[in-house]
Amino acid sequence: MKLKVFRYDGDESHYDEFEVPHKPGQTVLDALFYIQENLDDSLSFRYSCRGAVCGSCAMLINKVPRLACRTQVKTLVEGEDKVKIKHCPALDKGDEIEDGAVLVEPLPHLPVEKDLIVDQDKFFEYYREMEPMLKTKSEVPGEEYEMDPEDVSELEDYTNCILCAACFGACPVDGENVNYRGPAALAKLYRFHIDPRDKSERLSLADHEDGWWACEFHTNCQKVCPKNVPPNIAIGKARSKLEKEDG
Ligand code: SF4
Ligand code: FES
Repeated sequence: MKLKVFRYDGDESHYDEFEVPHKPGQTVLDALFYIQENLDDSLSFRYSCRGAVCGSCAMLINKVPRLACRTQVKTLVEGEDKVKIKHCPALDKGDEIEDGAVLVEPLPHLPVEKDLIVDQDKFFEYYREMEPMLKTKSEVPGEEYEMDPEDVSELEDYTNCILCAACFGACPVDGENVNYRGPAALAKLYRFHIDPRDKSERLSLADHEDGWWACEFHTNCQKVCPKNVPPNIAIGKARSKLEKEDG
């Protein structure tokens, strides 16, 4: 099986091709480890948990941002890949997908540091801007908060985010507007807005042209999210609420 991998080390970028033996259950991350351990130990990529929990290994695999540790090689080489996202100019760059091969590139919309590693500073800067911590109604809660199961269920849709930035790399608006806060940051802001334990009025933090109002509802964010977080739904609901408040 052929893996075509983007390479960059501060100079001109290029692609390297590697023949990797196929094994049952093999993920793209497994294949990258095979390359690093047997063919080229200079290949750089980010990972930690190897179990779709830490969010470190998001990269562009056959032109779709996704977790390398969760993507089975078999589905890609046997043409069973079902993920289809809307056009994004960043996806036109680089090499094309070849039948029977796997194309691995760094996540779009963030600067490349080395090979498949991107600089995530901007993604986390936007995340922190949303003040992503609970601001409770009392300084020290004396007892547990009782919560409606429906509230809990909606919250869970958003607390599942593992901050992998796949949605940021898939969003055409992030590709065009470097100031757009992006799907994950906005979903996080909405997550605290709907938390009944939180006392702050937060929607205003993104009530500007690079926040809630920049989204064009391409829905790539939801399609690529490994945890089924729906940032587009959060953005739509936040906009409706702000419109109602404005009369
Ligand atoms: S919303 Fe989904 S795709 Fe976006 S950062 Fe969170 S887990 Fe990753
Ligand atoms: S290595 Fe942790 S999510 Fe892939």
